[in-house]
Amino acid sequence: MSLTRFMDLADFSREEVEDLIALSNHLQTHPEPQALAGKILGLVFLNPSLRTLASFQAGMARLGGNSFVITPGQGTWGLETRLGVRMDGSAAEHVREGLPVLASFCDALAIRAFADGKNLAADVADSTFKAMADLIDKPFINMESAINHPCQALADWKTLNDLEIAPRAKFVLSWVPHPRALPLAVPAAALHMAALRGHEVVVARPDGFALPEEVMARARAAAAQSGGSVTETDDQQAAMQGAHVLYAKEWGCTRHYGDAAADAALRAGLEHWQVNNDTFQGAVADCRLMHCLPVRRNVAVHEAVLDGPRSVVLKEAHNRLVVQMAVLHRLLA
Ligand code: CP
Repeated sequence: MSLTRFMDLADFSREEVEDLIALSNHLQTHPEPQALAGKILGLVFLNPSLRTLASFQAGMARLGGNSFVITPGQGTWGLETRLGVRMDGSAAEHVREGLPVLASFCDALAIRAFADGKNLAADVADSTFKAMADLIDKPFINMESAINHPCQALADWKTLNDLEIAPRAKFVLSWVPHPRALPLAVPAAALHMAALRGHEVVVARPDGFALPEEVMARARAAAAQSGGSVTETDDQQAAMQGAHVLYAKEWGCTRHYGDAAADAALRAGLEHWQVNNDTFQGAVADCRLMHCLPVRRNVAVHEAVLDGPRSVVLKEAHNRLVVQMAVLHRLLA
């Protein structure tokens, strides 16, 4: 399978995803320290990161290549992403010039740009991110856009493989508390990943926090292809009955998208959605906890679960390095 863009796990069939994971498994046991010798990866972070930044740099180095990191506005010019604006604010440069220039310096470019968080339709359409990607005439990687995080989804799929979680197993994606609204990219990507893998997927979320219908419909279509299913409920405990995997994630309210005050009012009193040991009542005995990290201890997930045997969050994070090496190898070797 040749690859020029890694934008969305939904662009791949189950077989193509398994093919990428097979390559990542191969690279784990048969390192190729010269595979990308002479190649350069440009990494543009319009938003913060720990795992994505470090794992891409480490992965590139392990394959013999190099990378540079741009954090616009922090030692480099601030980058404007909006079209048609009068640039009399803090950003000195527009992505329409900045990104093609950066792409001309490297062999592949990767961008992280979170949702604007104001207009749900625009964020679900990923229009700003797609416009940036269209400026790049090199292999391109989505390191998290408004509505997608394919690198996380691929690492999560591999983690489920490593744990020998059967495709038909019950996968619960549950909303968990956070002090403020977070983007929809990870829950949307995790939902699609689990649906495409063929799971019985249940999305548990409070009233007002339903994932956008476009995201749910896409996941239902993927599940139909894979023999799985996708349902949703506002009853976390009911969702957990018979669950094999609990994927905890924080996200913002969609009913009042972009309205911080309304979001805060809606999430007040939802602390009981925090994952703790009681959350697993009714689940299978070895039900696992997944989370993409970073996670707020004792807000989103109780430390007893994070530090206990159910948690596979560190394995998931390590798999980011491993699967991204396969993506880099396919794009550049
Ligand atoms: N899960 C994830 O993408 O982590 P970072 O935000 O630290 O990169």
